[in-house]
Amino acid sequence: MPVIDIHNHFFPSTWPDLAARYGTPNWPWIKHTESGEADVMVGERFFRHITSACWDPEVRLRDMDRDGVDVQVISATPVLFAYNRPAEHALDCARLFNDAALELCSRGRGRLKSLCQLPLQNIDKACEELERCMRAGHLGAQIGNHVEEKNLDDAGIVTFLHHCADVGAAVLVHPWDMLGPERMPKYMMPWTVGMPAETQLSVVALILSGALDRLPASLRICFAHGGGSFAFLLGRLENAWHHHPVARGACEHPPSFYMNRFSVDSAVFDQRTLKFLVETMGAEQVMLGSDYPFPLGEERVGSLIRQSALPQETKNKLLGGNAARFLQVEMPAEMRQEKSDSLEASPKLPKPGQLTYSSYLKVPELLELQAPQSSPVHHDELLFILVHQTYELWFKELLHDLDAVVANLRKAGGVPNSHDEVYEAARLLRRCTEITRVLVEQFTILETMLPTHFLAFRSLLEPASGFQSEQFREIEFLCGLKDEKMLRYHRPTPEGYASLKRRLDEPSLHDVFFGALRAMGKLAEFAADATDREKFESRARAVHELYRDEHHHRDWIDVCERLTEFDELVVSWRLRHIQLVERIIGVRLGTGGSAGASYLKLTLEKKFFPELWEARTLLAE
Ligand code: HEM
Repeated sequence: MPVIDIHNHFFPSTWPDLAARYGTPNWPWIKHTESGEADVMVGERFFRHITSACWDPEVRLRDMDRDGVDVQVISATPVLFAYNRPAEHALDCARLFNDAALELCSRGRGRLKSLCQLPLQNIDKACEELERCMRAGHLGAQIGNHVEEKNLDDAGIVTFLHHCADVGAAVLVHPWDMLGPERMPKYMMPWTVGMPAETQLSVVALILSGALDRLPASLRICFAHGGGSFAFLLGRLENAWHHHPVARGACEHPPSFYMNRFSVDSAVFDQRTLKFLVETMGAEQVMLGSDYPFPLGEERVGSLIRQSALPQETKNKLLGGNAARFLQVEMPAEMRQEKSDSLEASPKLPKPGQLTYSSYLKVPELLELQAPQSSPVHHDELLFILVHQTYELWFKELLHDLDAVVANLRKAGGVPNSHDEVYEAARLLRRCTEITRVLVEQFTILETMLPTHFLAFRSLLEPASGFQSEQFREIEFLCGLKDEKMLRYHRPTPEGYASLKRRLDEPSLHDVFFGALRAMGKLAEFAADATDREKFESRARAVHELYRDEHHHRDWIDVCERLTEFDELVVSWRLRHIQLVERIIGVRLGTGGSAGASYLKLTLEKKFFPELWEARTLLAE
């Protein structure tokens, strides 16, 4: 499926002096500043700096190849719409730029298509020029989202849209001439605030006026910039429609009914927004649009979609499938041929939409996850964050593997001579010990941070503390060290609290291991009045039994050794952590409110499987 960018812009490298041509001032003109660079001026006012990507098809094609885009559907820039000028001037201007668009496309090796612009202040002239353009090869029209005071629900504009459906022209609605200019003179707010509001206004006008009830379903209409703020505010619109008759307008159905009647482009620049847009609009209604080559455009066209977590099938739709249907274009066979030939001759590269190293591993998202608190950012805070994040990632893997160990031991206990499960448990435990060995070592990296450097940002971290590491506590609970008091540190995070509570209530690795020994007949049921000490001694004796009959229990002894090693390494972890704490903050109190190193030293006594240690004392020489 070709990758099609349906929203990007062009300017020809030159055009006639429009002010002289029409005898009125303040028309756009181009001032070339240096090779490949130009300023678009409106009268004497600077409008925008542009580069040759606007007019040179070779530059566009190069960028398209770089970004994996097969087809661009180019449109003029709204500053050329001229809706507030006499209609004959706007028509003439439209013709100039529509022909210029086709001329640019003619040099685009079949990979550049175009949408025309129209003098929408005069519907007859607009329809006439649309027909001329469709005959000449345009795929449809780009229109402004309003014509002076008229929104898209204006009767004339609705007639025009009907005509677009009749002649098979796709329509891209682009915001322009933004509302409230007197309140948005700065910070590019007309683009960042005004444009999304304008587009929202147009979609709402089209729906509530009932225009979409009257227009044929064959109308193909798309709103730029993800439909502006529409998707985000649909709930508000829907609520008003259901509860306030005055907000209903003239449409037959609630607004959400019309979601499949229009499309939006993907120019939203944020993964969460894209996901939300797809959920709200539907996977069929979102198409790649980049705003290339303008400053607010997507820098690597298509990367937002490609790096998203959307299913591959959805990505393919967004990247080109939907646009091919919307534009009703067939990609020329020779283009596909040419591309596949060149792919064969080059290293095996992912095809557009295919998984890449970065999209699979979510590298961009991962690299966005460090948020230092110091300002200006202290150099070592990044290390502090990354080291902790790395620990948490390994904790995740430990939990993953320890859960599998539990599952295997549980099965092994139920089936006599179940060597496979015991082998698998030992194998995974070996991974756990290797990971923990790395975790012990990793503190040395943090020790390259001077105490003074840590103290420079430590106060910003309070009351965050290792006490609140849910996964660390989960590992303790899962292995059998269950201390309900520790739950109090997790009250502020209900999800973490819930998973810890679940771990507290579930059988631990310790329970399952001894349950298996019981099922094997190595551990007798405890007497009803047995004390904790007596139970402990029975369990230690059961382990002792295994070691005494090494010949028959090699696989279980291997599990015991792995569990012991894991226990040992966790104690090493505690010790190295204490050394790090003393090295960096001395005997200061912890940010979590404990006595710091002296508190941590008390935890050195903790063991997951004390019976495995006790069994060693029981063994006779
Ligand atoms: C500058 C480095 C560090 C310092 C000064 C430090 C300090 C402390 C202190 C004082 C405590 C006791 C609780 C409190 O009052 O806050 C603690 C607990 C803890 N820290 Fe660290 N820590 C550091 C690095 C790390 C790292 C890299 C990890 C890796 C995950 C970590 C994980 C933990 C855990 C899990 C606890 C709870 C231990 C338990 O309850 O047994 N800490 N830390």
